Amino acid sequence: MSEVVAIVLAAGQGTRMKSTKAKVLHRIAGRSLVEWSVGAALEAGASECVVVVGHAREEVQAVLEARFGGRVRFVVQEEQRGTGHAVACAMTALEGRTGNVLVTYGDCPLVRSETLAKLIAAGEKQRCALITAHLDDPTGYGRIVRDRHRVSKIVEQADCDESQAAISEVNPGLYCFDVGFLRDALGALRSDNAQGELYLTDVVGAAGSVADVIGDMAELRGINDRVQLAECSRDMRVRIASRLAREGVGITDLEATFVDADCVVEPDAVLEPGVHLRGNCHVASGARIDVGCVLEDVRVAAGAYLQPYTVARESVVGERAQVGPFAHLRPQTELGEDSKVGNFCETKKTRVGKGSKVNHLAYVGDGIIGEDVNVGAGVIFCNYDGKRKHTTVLEDGVFVGSDSQLIAPLTIGKGAYVASGTTVTRDVPADALALSRTKQQNKEGYASRLKGR
Ligand code: UD1
Ligand code: CA
Repeated sequence: MSEVVAIVLAAGQGTRMKSTKAKVLHRIAGRSLVEWSVGAALEAGASECVVVVGHAREEVQAVLEARFGGRVRFVVQEEQRGTGHAVACAMTALEGRTGNVLVTYGDCPLVRSETLAKLIAAGEKQRCALITAHLDDPTGYGRIVRDRHRVSKIVEQADCDESQAAISEVNPGLYCFDVGFLRDALGALRSDNAQGELYLTDVVGAAGSVADVIGDMAELRGINDRVQLAECSRDMRVRIASRLAREGVGITDLEATFVDADCVVEPDAVLEPGVHLRGNCHVASGARIDVGCVLEDVRVAAGAYLQPYTVARESVVGERAQVGPFAHLRPQTELGEDSKVGNFCETKKTRVGKGSKVNHLAYVGDGIIGEDVNVGAGVIFCNYDGKRKHTTVLEDGVFVGSDSQLIAPLTIGKGAYVASGTTVTRDVPADALALSRTKQQNKEGYASRLKGR
């Protein structure tokens, strides 16, 4: 097989998105549209990818370099003079090359690498190959004109006569060309058409013999507006959830399970409806993520249970730990094995040791909590003095009574008790009881006297 490089066109602004952000930077399942396009081309076998950038080029470049490193190069198209002009710009980066070149658009995120591999294989046979598809309503697309079954040319919507406009076979915009042929054909393009642009599609007409692969528009369609973005987003979500389900993940509702492409979920984990796994989450076998949990960059170990509506970021949940309902784990929370963080608790930069419990309405921030510690209802780690953050250490076996405030920096020694309602301002030695309460007074009969006033 000859060497294949890819060109991805991503210079357009995408005005129909009505967004300040360039179209190809909008995201589906955690990746921008252009990342999906470049990723599919590289996976299909392209050795490298030349991306034609224009609008928001610094940002597009940064996003692609972060993911693909040296496998992507960039060419700037200053002025968008048509798809043929865009590819001609890209060719300046492929000086002296032979072999084949795959050309795709940066706004077709559902295209599978398997489909591109078929296109590349077809490109081995002819100097021009393309994918076509049938559409009930072909409006807007270039139409495929055939001459005795062979593709002879593509006519753009704006240039169609009546009979051409009635053709339902369209050009989704994916091609594979012989590099030498493409270079010559681009040089001969003219802009004497309805849009005054250089059409890449005219290269197909110049090829003489064209190999075609019939594809499915469900996978090949491009995105022009936010409705199409949402539709593709749903299809991608169902595709990811279906793959996970086939791999053994328990998924109740394929349409209502939102897993970003870079997350890993092991077989026999369970994801209930409305779960969002964003960024790079890892959910181990036997973990259960219940309804409405939103996790970003979180590791959940085997057997852990996240009860409904837990929100967590950049955290680790240990084996068999239990969280929620309605808990908020902020970055750098690490929950040990068999630990518990219950309803309406917030944690931040805190390690909770094995078997420890923070069960109700507590805030624990900048904490180091040992094993078998009990943090009572409404306890606050007062970690911030207005300028700096300070650490609270609770050694193994500590019991903190409800509604206590722990003013950091602070260490409470092994096995110590803090009585309910205490404001702890000094370290507490191991095995001691810390207590700070004003004595209670009961004034007999006072209540009815007040009412009688
Ligand atoms: C193009 C095809 C049409 C096909 C349709 C599929 C041509 C002439 N027509 O039409 O046959 O059915 O796609 O969606 O190719 N771009 C650049 N620089 C440019 C122009 C475009 O980078 O100068 C990029 C755009 O950002 C976009 C892609 O190329 O990602 C397609 O451009 P667009 O203008 O949308 O082409 P269509 O008119 O839709
Ligand atoms: Ca288009």
